[in-house]
Amino acid sequence: MSAVNEKKVAALEAVKFIESGMNVGLGTGSTAFFMIEAIGEMVQNGLHIKAVATSNETEKLARKLGIDVITLAQAKRLNVTIDGADEVDQDFQLIKGGGGALLREKIVAHNSDLNIVIADSSKSVKKLGKFKLPIETIPFATQLIIKELEGMKLSPVQRLKDGEHYRTDENNDIIDIDIWDADVKLTTLEQQLKTIPGIVETGLFLTTTNIVIIGEGDQAVVKKR
Ligand code: A5P
Repeated sequence: MSAVNEKKVAALEAVKFIESGMNVGLGTGSTAFFMIEAIGEMVQNGLHIKAVATSNETEKLARKLGIDVITLAQAKRLNVTIDGADEVDQDFQLIKGGGGALLREKIVAHNSDLNIVIADSSKSVKKLGKFKLPIETIPFATQLIIKELEGMKLSPVQRLKDGEHYRTDENNDIIDIDIWDADVKLTTLEQQLKTIPGIVETGLFLTTTNIVIIGEGDQAVVKKR
């Protein structure tokens, strides 16, 4: 079965956790798309939820499908968030941010009681890091951060779009770094990166995930922490 179908299988399993009355965090990306589409259909069939979107793109899609989108401040707390990932390991650790939405995604995950990650089987890995780790930086500091990350042997590359610097929904830059050969624990790396002024957030999601749902062929494999 194709990755697209596996994404859909995982998404349809995840929406079973949603009930009327919940505040729901909506992730971003091609896997989250199927989850948002399914929730849109559930709303048409009478489900009552309020949703917080992790990107402008997700907000636009959700509104188009008739989902009631509110701000995180209005929600105060989320019952459940469903989001995709670029990589997920056996310890429920993730690399996220391939689509550039890592900052809001991490804020929403932090403020959610239950975090469900959905992915096709290609995203499931033994060790994180084949996928380049996105980090979000303040444009004022980006070039100096790149120099510092070069010194840390992390091969930083500033993300571009159509030949221009890629800009996040928060108007920040993204630098993609290579952590495959980093000889420190991921928690240490995360701490080291977060101490560099101008790095707003990293795409390492090490502790927030409670449930991982992987589409494997036409089966959804559910793993709980
Ligand atoms: C968005 O910035 C990301 O964190 C996505 O959740 C991640 O890139 C997965 O996207 P896909 O589902 O499109 O692979």
